Amino acid sequence: MKKEFSDCYDLVVYQIYPRSFLDSNGDGIGDLSGIISKLDYIRSIGANAIWLCPIFKSPQCDNGYDISDYRDIDPIYGTMTDFERLLAAAHSKGIKVIMDFVANHTSSEHEWFKRARTSREDPYHDYYYWADEPLTDWRAEFGGSTWEYNEPTGEYYLHSFAVGQPDVNWTNPKVREEYKAIVDFWVAKGVDGFRCDVLDHISKDFAKGLRRNGPHLHEYIREVFGRDHLTNIYTVGEAETTEESILATCGQDRRELKSVFQFSHLAVGRKGRYTPVPHKMDEVKDILVEWQRFTAAHDLLYILLTDNHDRPWFNSRMGDDRALRYESATCVATMVYLLKGIPFIYQGQEIGCANSHFTDISAFNDVECLGYYAEQKGRIPDDELLAEINFGSRDNSRRPFAWDGTASHGFSTAAPWLPYASRSGEINLADDLNREKSVFRYYEALFALRGARHVLRHGEWTQVLPERENCFVFLREEGKERILVVCNCEKAQTLTELPKGKLLLSNHKRTAGANGEYAPYECAVYDLTE
Ligand code: NOJ
Repeated sequence: MKKEFSDCYDLVVYQIYPRSFLDSNGDGIGDLSGIISKLDYIRSIGANAIWLCPIFKSPQCDNGYDISDYRDIDPIYGTMTDFERLLAAAHSKGIKVIMDFVANHTSSEHEWFKRARTSREDPYHDYYYWADEPLTDWRAEFGGSTWEYNEPTGEYYLHSFAVGQPDVNWTNPKVREEYKAIVDFWVAKGVDGFRCDVLDHISKDFAKGLRRNGPHLHEYIREVFGRDHLTNIYTVGEAETTEESILATCGQDRRELKSVFQFSHLAVGRKGRYTPVPHKMDEVKDILVEWQRFTAAHDLLYILLTDNHDRPWFNSRMGDDRALRYESATCVATMVYLLKGIPFIYQGQEIGCANSHFTDISAFNDVECLGYYAEQKGRIPDDELLAEINFGSRDNSRRPFAWDGTASHGFSTAAPWLPYASRSGEINLADDLNREKSVFRYYEALFALRGARHVLRHGEWTQVLPERENCFVFLREEGKERILVVCNCEKAQTLTELPKGKLLLSNHKRTAGANGEYAPYECAVYDLTE
């Protein structure tokens, strides 16, 4: 593996949803100064990089994924000076900064679009997609048609997401120049990487009905990110995740992206976004195994993740977020973060956050779930609809971080922009730290171990006991070093056939795996090095 790629195994990325991390100025919305004040906290988990969800100027119809100025900070988060302070402080603590790169669409309030929509002759008109009649019958991700009528030009414009998020026309070379300049602007400031939002959408083919993954996708990505001065810039794309497309985007000779998220294990246990289905952790295991093998065979980086701002909590769907919340949160972390790849921790995972339950739609903000609610209201009973929203809404993971168990949870002195998670009184950092079973302390130990042992970051991965159900056991090996990771799943069982070694980490009080017995969600890490 090329050096600039293999170095990525040393990254541990902590994803921040800035609105909900920490409010320093009492307006109920998290901000950059709040993040600066918690950099030591982030470092203490073992993270050495942060990914910030969009902090650019935006009307916030999709919480910042609708950008009206790519070169400015939204005042709700602070100023450019605050950002520069954040960057300098992060770097001084050994933390890299990864920004969100949202290039499929702008806000309808962006100058380009404000001009583009005024006349067919405006130089910015061709920065977007226009048609006299809708070219397709596509449904927008957040409800309704993807085509919206624009009175002044008598045309329709394309928006794959909200009406306020018009899709940018990447076939226009001027658009590509604009995005190259935007990347360069942030690189010149000193940022270390980009997480590229729905990047596969930037090439389309209307005639063939392709909303994404169009014929020029790879050429465009290479044009922006394949430039020599970006060699050491880390990139991770949100893009189609078939084996073929990951190879095409991340192959080391492609000069496109360093990595792409693979989300298929996060679809287990649900049908679509809002319907739960029966599941077993073994289904997740099988997908992870497949990707460990595929990425190893093709020398590709793999992203290790269970949560982000677009999903309800993994532990609530796949684990036991009640009686065994600590056990399943820590077992899942061990099973995922000790695989070979780049760990991404989403804020709140480290305290074992769980889904909320609200009885009124006013407790939600997410444009996607509100669109779904509006479409379904009256079609299914209200309580069932709310149960679906509680299960699937992206707001579950977007609620303000609970730093303590007080009424304002140490997040803000004002009313928060979105109600606190309904279990914040129980699930908050201060209380977690006071418990014998602290999810945070376990994360700390897990990442300290991963940081201390090169083999856990760079070593080869192989599965052990592949035929055994209800457990995930694997080895990491490098030279003479051998580490065994044992994660039991939902049910207690005895695993006598495992080699014996020195216990390095466990989430269970008794000697882990004593006599080969493992409790539900018990996990243990053993050093087998002779
Ligand atoms: C993916 C982002 O993660 C999500 O939050 C956003 O709504 C869409 N892309 C549109 O930008």
